[in-house]
Order: sequence, then structure tokens, then C-alpha cells
Amino acid sequence: MTVPKTKLSNGPYIPQVGLGTWQIKDKSECLQTVRTALENGYRHFDTAQIYDNEQYIGEALKTSEINRNDLFITTKIWLLNFLSTRLLSSFEKSLNKLQTDHVDLLLLHFPVPKLRHSAWKKMEEIADSGRANSIGVSNYTIRHLERLLKDCRIRPAVNQVELHVFLQQPELLKYCEVEGIAVEAYSPLAHGYGLTNPVLAKLAKKHSKSTAQIMLRWCVEVGAIPLPKSTTASRIAENIDIFDFTLDESDLIALRGLNANHRTSWDPTPIP
Ligand code: A2P
Repeated sequence: MTVPKTKLSNGPYIPQVGLGTWQIKDKSECLQTVRTALENGYRHFDTAQIYDNEQYIGEALKTSEINRNDLFITTKIWLLNFLSTRLLSSFEKSLNKLQTDHVDLLLLHFPVPKLRHSAWKKMEEIADSGRANSIGVSNYTIRHLERLLKDCRIRPAVNQVELHVFLQQPELLKYCEVEGIAVEAYSPLAHGYGLTNPVLAKLAKKHSKSTAQIMLRWCVEVGAIPLPKSTTASRIAENIDIFDFTLDESDLIALRGLNANHRTSWDPTPIP
């Protein structure tokens, strides 16, 4: 399975689907999951300092036969490490755990009030040093992005947010498109919620796909990069097999009706 890539605003290319690894903490399960994903064609792996699995992902990738240049590795700075005195050293620990000299994408995990501005300066230093090919943010609303774009030297290449057919965020998608910020979708399967929804079931039947594949394909159709998490081999394979069909206009209209502002995770809207 060859996964198409999207060009980020600062130049590098990112595979249009990645493996989400939140809640995969057990060492043998994590090693096995990453190896299964590699066998199925995944080259894009999304982790974070707080996931507590960077070391296992690093080990699985290092011991694979895949060339580092063919991998796309993302990690995220946890909020306790936003302090200027901690950010760089925490990032160096992440690199050690991931057994690499650079990440492809480094994100600030949350729009932490006040601290996120100085943290972004440190992110820019990391980008300057070449140890992160691209830098970006996660869980930022339009308001958080507007503030960042006003005083940044390097613009964020990516905003990773919760996004799925039950939480479509059309305004945020439009804003990011206009500003050249790629959107990554975490929990693109809404954490398993709604997989038996009749609208999804009807489209799944029409396209001879699963409801999960319809949800993931929707992300691609709206220009987002889904990061589905699974530790089940058959689902890992299923979740990358979404590039041999497209959703047509009538499908997209039907899916629009599923938008319910349904969050499975926290809501960053109130964060000043
Ligand atoms: P599992 O890891 O046991 O396969 P999200 O990425 O939206 O957070 O969703 C992750 C959840 O969805 C996990 O519970 C995962 O279970 C489940 N899941 C992942 N892929 C599929 C799939 N193709 N079909 C059904 N459930 C899936």
C-alpha cells in the first residue's frame, strides 16, 4: 500500500495517514503494533511525550529495515515541559528515546496559557537547529492560531486536533487551509463511537468498505490527515486501505448531516 503525501507549507512531504499511538503503553504490544503497521505500509507514526511509548516506537523503528528518510515521526511537547528551562532538554530526551537525531514534526501538545508564547520561541530554535524538520501545534482553536501567527517567526506547519464526521469543525478547516496550516485528525474514528451509524453503514455498503474506512476517507476528502489508533492487526491493515476509492458529492452531503460537535476528548475552546 503506497500512501499519498501532502506537501507541508515549509516544504517536506507528510504521508496522508499515520498511526496514532495514544494509549499504547505496553512494550510488547507497542513493538508488535508498530511492526504490523510497517508491514502494512505505514511510514508515519504519531507519538507524544505524555504517551510514554516513545522508547518502544524508537526501538521498533530502529530495528526495522526501513530507511529513516522514508519514515515520518512526530512527537509532542507535554505541557509541563513548556517552561523555557525544560523544553529543550525534554526534547533531547524524546530524541534519545526515539533513537533518532531529528523528528519530522514536533508539536506543542496544548495551547497552554501564557507559556505557549515563549515555548514557541524554543520550538523555532529547534527548527533552526535542524532537529525538527517541521514544527506545529495541537489542540489550537482559530483564536489560538491567530495569536500565534501574529508574533511568530516560523509559522506552524500543522495543527493536530480532534476531527471526525461527528466533529467536523468546518471553520477551523477553512481557516487552516487559508493560512497554509495542514490539519491532522486525532481520534478520526471518534474513539470507536458511531461505527454502527446507519448513514456510515449505507456508504460502507455502497463502496464495499467498512464504516471505519468511510470515516477515515472523509478526513482525506476534507484535506485532513487521519491518525487512527489500533493495536489489532486486521484493523491496522483496514485503516490504511482508504486510497482506492473516493466519496462523491452526495456522500459528502450525507456525511455533513452527522456533524454533532461530539467530542471524545477535551475542548480547548475556553483556554484563553
Ligand atoms: P483497537 O485498538 O482495539 O483496534 P481513534 O483512533 O478514533 O481514537 O479510535 C481508536 C479506537 O477505535 C480503538 O478502541 C480501536 O480499537 C478502535 N478501532 C481502530 N480501528 C478500528 C476499525 N477499523 N474498526 C473498528 N474499531 C477500530
